[in-house]
Amino acid sequence: MNQRKPIIAGNWKMHKTLDEAIAAARRIVEITGDVTEVEVLIAPPFTALSAVAAVIRNSSVQLGGQNLFWEQKGAYTGEIAADMLRSCGCQYVIIGHSERRQFFGETDETVNRRISAALKGGLVPILCIGETETQREAGQTFSVLDKQVRKGLEGFFAHDLASLVIAYEPVWAIGTGKTASSDQAQEVHRYLRDLMAKAYGNALANSIRILYGGSVKPSNVRELMSMPDLDGALVGGASLDPQSFGQLVHYQ
Ligand code: PGA
Repeated sequence: MNQRKPIIAGNWKMHKTLDEAIAAARRIVEITGDVTEVEVLIAPPFTALSAVAAVIRNSSVQLGGQNLFWEQKGAYTGEIAADMLRSCGCQYVIIGHSERRQFFGETDETVNRRISAALKGGLVPILCIGETETQREAGQTFSVLDKQVRKGLEGFFAHDLASLVIAYEPVWAIGTGKTASSDQAQEVHRYLRDLMAKAYGNALANSIRILYGGSVKPSNVRELMSMPDLDGALVGGASLDPQSFGQLVHYQ
């Protein structure tokens, strides 16, 4: 048995007004607030962070940002710094989501700078990586992931990365209803753990949590989570409805 505590994380993306976010957070606290064997995390849009923080304050539900900028402060219109996320009650921050890579010019280099800012700012980074369908079909899955991990984490040592979480999210499975099979996911998660072992040693590789993301839903979560190297899920669509998110948290 490994000692890694699973994380079920809801990435709300660009969904929910303030009132909708508060209502959803209240329901999530009712449904999952007493869960201790799984870490429960929600990542609302920035505009709802502090209101959601107030709702979840006395529960075990944790809060994450969906992105951050690497500078601490300054003339960067539209950006959010690590301290700001912390001051809104965030413990986690999602970094390098494929939608940010695809639509907002995120690269492995900018991912690296954001991870550094998150760690310096006392936030747990969730580093998102994943191959596209074309890359998978061309047999490039492992080389793509290898590059995303190595470049994303360039310059860090094992002791810097003790809190790091990795989310493997095949781009072809995000929001498409196509989930990686549990064997496909396990194969990649095993590869990533071995990669971390080679780069940073066995202790970090054995303790790091590697989440799977991409069309996770109540009907497939248990099968995915039965795999030895899957330590949780990063969930988009199925996290928006508190009822289905609750089912994901209670997968065991
Ligand atoms: P999905 O999104 O669950 O809607 O596929 C996952 C993600 O993008 O984190």
